[in-house]
Amino acid sequence: MRYTLKEILDLAQEGGFAVPAFNVYNLETLMGVALAAKETKAPVIIQMYSRLFNTGTGEFMAPVIIDVMNKLKTPVTFHLDHGAGIPECIRAMRFGTTGVMIDASTMPIDENIETTKKVVDMAREAGVAVEGELGHIGSTKDEKWDAYTEVEDAVRYVEETGIDALAIMVGTAHGKYAQAPVLAIDRIKEIHANTRAHLVLHGGSGVGDNQIKAAVNAGIRKINFGTDVCYAFMDGYKALDPYSAPLDVTMSKVAQNVKEFAIGKIKLLGAEQKGE
Ligand code: 13P
Ligand code: ZN
Repeated sequence: MRYTLKEILDLAQEGGFAVPAFNVYNLETLMGVALAAKETKAPVIIQMYSRLFNTGTGEFMAPVIIDVMNKLKTPVTFHLDHGAGIPECIRAMRFGTTGVMIDASTMPIDENIETTKKVVDMAREAGVAVEGELGHIGSTKDEKWDAYTEVEDAVRYVEETGIDALAIMVGTAHGKYAQAPVLAIDRIKEIHANTRAHLVLHGGSGVGDNQIKAAVNAGIRKINFGTDVCYAFMDGYKALDPYSAPLDVTMSKVAQNVKEFAIGKIKLLGAEQKGE
């Protein structure tokens, strides 16, 4: 069922759970996520990085994702992840996304607000919901990643942009962690209590189950998983004879591995059966 980002996160807010947002990269990762949603009757967000919309991959994947979104009986959102700029957001909307993220988090807050608001105004006209980022969520390879999102900044950002969902920096980063992070749970609680935007946690791969649960209890409503989707695919492939034909049979086993991974996260976030 086709849901906008706002609609699916409203559901999570009402139910007190978080919707998993899985980055997909190819047909097998998409199949794995779709099969997991179907089996667990869970709402899911299927997202692609900005660069995939700039290359051929997005062009091939978007119609299939839209078909999945329309055919599954559970709520599904098709989302642009880390939209690099206004042109990227426009392009993703033309490809049929029902949510877009504008990532202007490396800009000073005034410029971030200005850029984000432009996307919000445009997306409203297209019936598409918007996620913004305040407090830059970097890479696990960065030297420092302790500049948490300030509560007052978040309040101002949400009010002035009219954003639907807000990605906050509370201790996570993108990629593989050398050591599992400890999240700023109190900061999540404070931001949740003071803003109406749905809160998003990026860098979900490798975060411990207890930290994930605490983040959801504190008010996080969307958690992104990218790196671990890649590893679920690669581990699945590695376990097989790489020269076993036919390829559709081989690859369906890889998709199964992604499915099992996705089911684990759906359950952890409390999203199982929440799409009925
Ligand atoms: P990971 O690749 O660390 O899971 O992060 C995913 C993400 O935040 C996508 O935006
Ligand atoms: Zn991210």
